[in-house]
Amino acid sequence: MDKQHKVLPNIAEMGDLSAMDCEAKADAIEEQMIRELNISISGDHSGERPPTVAEIEEEIPRRTYRRGVGFLFVPSANKWFQFANDNVRVLSRLPERPTLADFFKQRFTCTRNHVLQSAGLAMRNGMSEEIILACLLHDVAQEIMKTDHGWWGGQLFEPYVSERVSFAIRYHQALRYYPDESVGYEYPDVYRRIFGSDYVPPPYIEQTYQMVRKHRWYMDARMVTVNDYYAFDPDAVVTIEPFLDIIGRHFKQPKEGLGQDNSPVSHMWRTIATPDLPL
Ligand SMILES: [Fe+2]
Ligand SMILES: [Fe+2]
Repeated sequence: MDKQHKVLPNIAEMGDLSAMDCEAKADAIEEQMIRELNISISGDHSGERPPTVAEIEEEIPRRTYRRGVGFLFVPSANKWFQFANDNVRVLSRLPERPTLADFFKQRFTCTRNHVLQSAGLAMRNGMSEEIILACLLHDVAQEIMKTDHGWWGGQLFEPYVSERVSFAIRYHQALRYYPDESVGYEYPDVYRRIFGSDYVPPPYIEQTYQMVRKHRWYMDARMVTVNDYYAFDPDAVVTIEPFLDIIGRHFKQPKEGLGQDNSPVSHMWRTIATPDLPL
């Protein structure tokens, strides 16, 4: 089967599912699919020619969705990791006052592995707690919106984290297009496939890069890109638990619950909590 269009997980690799209840089974299957997704985007594409920008644009009218849509609404809606033929499933009910950890366990299901592994890498690399937190949060806004996800993420977390952490989340997106040899960061090969081999970032990305490059917190945002982890390690421990202490120290959890606290971004948390509401 064409690896890029594989929609069913390899159940044989998943061990004994018989002892699991329905929800655990659904989670295990979903995690296996994400594992395969991660392998497929980080695998060896050396024999394949990346598409051009024009070839990517030609595909737009052949899709029933736009590529910027968040994972919660159209799971993995992207040619390079496409499960777009899958139905979405019924989401488990969040607690009345949901915490960040609840969102991680019950809503950030498509981005969770990637950000947990990025934060784990940052921890192993001896990064500060604020950078580890920024790595942990850097891509979860893609559950709502992939387009400009750095800005969406910076805004989503702004009321609850330090200015420095939201800066790193917001601007990691723009920095990903620009190498920095001083820290061994290269342009990601996967971007040639996602954006096209001849892609040039738009002027606002270039201007943002120039601004961030001169900023005193440049390295905070840069370290998110350095620890952005695109290879799945099957032995990695990918749970939120190792990060709960850092969350406790650096994330201002509202006592009313995320989405119930009347902050300027409560509606964004409610959208993540209840993406099936029609209006
Ligand atoms: Fe990102
Ligand atoms: Fe990332």
